[in-house]
Amino acid sequence: MILDQRLLPWKVSYLRCKHYQQVANAIKHMAIRGAPAIGIAAAMGIALGISKLRSSKGLEKRFDKICKTITSTRPTAQNLFWAISRMRQIFNAHRNKPLSELKNLLIKEAQNILDEDIATNKEIGNHGKVLIKPGMTVLTHCNAGALATGGYGTALGIIRAAWEAGIKIQVIANETRPYFQGARLTSWELAQEGIPVTVITDNTAGYLMSKRKIHLAIVGADRIAANGDTANKIGTYSLAVLARENNIPFYIAAPFSTIDSNLPSGERIPIEERSGKEVFYIGKRRIVPEGINALYFAFDITPHKYITGIVTERGIIRASYKEMIKKYGRR
Ligand code: MRU
Repeated sequence: MILDQRLLPWKVSYLRCKHYQQVANAIKHMAIRGAPAIGIAAAMGIALGISKLRSSKGLEKRFDKICKTITSTRPTAQNLFWAISRMRQIFNAHRNKPLSELKNLLIKEAQNILDEDIATNKEIGNHGKVLIKPGMTVLTHCNAGALATGGYGTALGIIRAAWEAGIKIQVIANETRPYFQGARLTSWELAQEGIPVTVITDNTAGYLMSKRKIHLAIVGADRIAANGDTANKIGTYSLAVLARENNIPFYIAAPFSTIDSNLPSGERIPIEERSGKEVFYIGKRRIVPEGINALYFAFDITPHKYITGIVTERGIIRASYKEMIKKYGRR
């Protein structure tokens, strides 16, 4: 069951996926989004695909096909590939077991990935809440909350943890065009908990920073390279540069499963380019005249030099990122 995030906040509606292809479509077409949630859905999609098999005939090929379909959904979120690789490890270790046992083991692993993600988010919240002092206004971008994860959230997990600790704060959410994850999802999530949130257009943050109306920025990540360079929702890079210009601490919050230590820097992180058509419309209304082109890169890369720290479940990583990521990665 996937909560269809495209319909929020107007409608709470679940997609009941009966085939792995439906899970793949849900990821590709943004019904479920946010790097950790994409990873969890991918694992569940694989478990679903295998659980539908009636015999072990061509098992390996069928497993590969399922993984290939799910792999090709979105290119940037490292958690997708990480989760698929965890499922593959279980498959490889148990493929000779009776099919029913293999099915159960894959279902269990997918469930583990979900459960671990929630626990990880809570740890991120615990480590990160010290960054938030009473009275602060915290800026966030896109949605790195419960909806984008197994529950609780990464960037919003820190905000939640601070709020739960009784720290009174304000949140500013960038609307995050063209999917409006900030306007629709972050505001919805925070309002449900009574956390004061104000939505701004994506081009407002610089002005507010210059007026000292923002004290801290925390965002999520889709992929972090070994040197700390971070891919996150388009617009993150501009915010980080503005934060530096205005002496505002800029933090990334992400689980270790978002770190891709195989990539030395952000340069080779694949950036998803979605159809320019997604920029033409607000809801069903076309706002761009016919005959005009539009570009939509879904993510950008923030060089590590603009990042004050990366809050993970193992603690806060600071420069020098390469050394610290390596060190914490061994834990
Ligand atoms: O295109 P989306 O909505 O999947 O992008 C989501 C983000 O950019 C999030 O900040 C990131 O995945 C972290 S979610 C905990």
